[in-house]
Amino acid sequence: MIRRLARLSITGRLVAMFAAATLATFAVIGAVLYVVMQHELVRHEDEELNTNVQNLTYSIERAGTTDRWGRVQAKMDTLTPPDGSIRFWVLSDDPRFQYGKGLAAIETMLRNDDGSGTIALPSAAAPLRTMTRDISAFQDRPAVRLIVASDTGPYLRTMRVFLVALVGLSLATMLAVVLVGTWIARVGLRPLERLSREARALRPKTPAQRLQVSHLPVELADFAVAFNGAIGRLEDAYRQLEAFNADVAHELRTPLANLIGGTQVALARPRSAAELNEILQSNLEELEQLRLIINDMLFLARADQGEVATGLVRTVLADEVRKTIDFYEVLLDDLGAAVSIEGDVDTEASIERALFRRALSNLLQNAIEHSAPGARIVVEIRRGESDVWVSVVNPGEPIAESHVRRLFDRFYRVDAARNVPGRPHGHGLGLAIVKAVATMHSGSVAAASAGGRTTIGFSVPLASPFVVAPARVRSDVPG
Ligand SMILES: Nc1ncnc2c1ncn2[C@@H]1O[C@H](COP(=O)(O)OP(=O)(O)O)[C@@H](O)[C@H]1O
Ligand SMILES: [Mg+2]
Repeated sequence: MIRRLARLSITGRLVAMFAAATLATFAVIGAVLYVVMQHELVRHEDEELNTNVQNLTYSIERAGTTDRWGRVQAKMDTLTPPDGSIRFWVLSDDPRFQYGKGLAAIETMLRNDDGSGTIALPSAAAPLRTMTRDISAFQDRPAVRLIVASDTGPYLRTMRVFLVALVGLSLATMLAVVLVGTWIARVGLRPLERLSREARALRPKTPAQRLQVSHLPVELADFAVAFNGAIGRLEDAYRQLEAFNADVAHELRTPLANLIGGTQVALARPRSAAELNEILQSNLEELEQLRLIINDMLFLARADQGEVATGLVRTVLADEVRKTIDFYEVLLDDLGAAVSIEGDVDTEASIERALFRRALSNLLQNAIEHSAPGARIVVEIRRGESDVWVSVVNPGEPIAESHVRRLFDRFYRVDAARNVPGRPHGHGLGLAIVKAVATMHSGSVAAASAGGRTTIGFSVPLASPFVVAPARVRSDVPG
């Protein structure tokens, strides 16, 4: 029932609630009125009965002879209305002092009854309300019992009419509430309809479209503001995606153009085997470049889809850093540069090794690329509360704040032209991959450039007690 109500339109819901509230109000008021009315009618009837009893008791008490009894009978005749709504009986052992029709039936019915009550006579449609009074003997007259009865028919009819009127009125009011409520709800919900219409009209390609907030009631204004915020964020994401597509096309175009150009030149005239070999070698380099870009993009796409680092192992970070640096030994020697590891070198972290090395390699490549020959590069390991930061620090020219903020953007390069031959250089995805690796480890990235030093780093979680290093597992095996 509640589920059904929840799926109803707001109008339907409001109207149903209005109607239920009306019905409940009427039920309570009606019940109270009914009880009060019933009570009043009974009181009124009893009063009438009482008046008659008092009046007749007075006469009967003074009637001690058949003569005077005749007058009492006449009085009771007069008091009995033609419709029989008031009736009198006098029960007596002496037949001369009796009064009323069907005495035998009354007598059996009232044998044990002395006060007021209700009796059902076969001759009457509705029960009779009675009041009884015993009157002691006087002169010739023995003790008698006076019974005054009043027909409850009119009373019951009144109550019935009242009930019908009450139910009728409730239903009519409920109907009116449903109709008026529907109208009110429709009018009240018109802004919502307008909002839906506006929302339906929004098109993905039209920029700067927003829901109009100014004419909305407060309840909907908040929603519209939130909705507009969501559209804004979607728009940003959409723009970024478009820019990314353009960048991808641009990045792929250069190596492709080189390949095509080189091949065309090669085909322009007959070539010796040595020449062809050289051309193929250069083509291979371009193809390798293409493969690198595509691999990086696939990696970023997987990270975008929410892929996280799996196969986490507990690792002393400094060891992992050392192994990664070894990979650049030749290059560093050529440049006369050196890399040292500083900070909390004993720190253990939970990492996926391949991912960690990939991120650190990118940072080292950048540091090597951007430092002068003979530079001292430092890998800093700083332990935090729940994570550990690995940053590569190299001496270099300061990077403007506006660039620092965007370093981790895809394809972003401060100076795209600055590629020094013989040193590693990328295509602007290196730091984006560092950021993706950090995200896959629930970490984050940071970059700073101050005092002639550039620091770029990322964080990974500290070793958790639930991740066991494979080495330790092996050492547990006996033998
Ligand atoms: N250590 C650094 N010193 C100065 N600039 C850097 C450093 N690391 C990165 N950058 C800047 O950030 C840009 C983005 O780096 P990255 O994403 O690795 O792309 P790429 O190395 O392919 O250019 C680089 O082009 C460079 O301008
Ligand atoms: Mg790079």
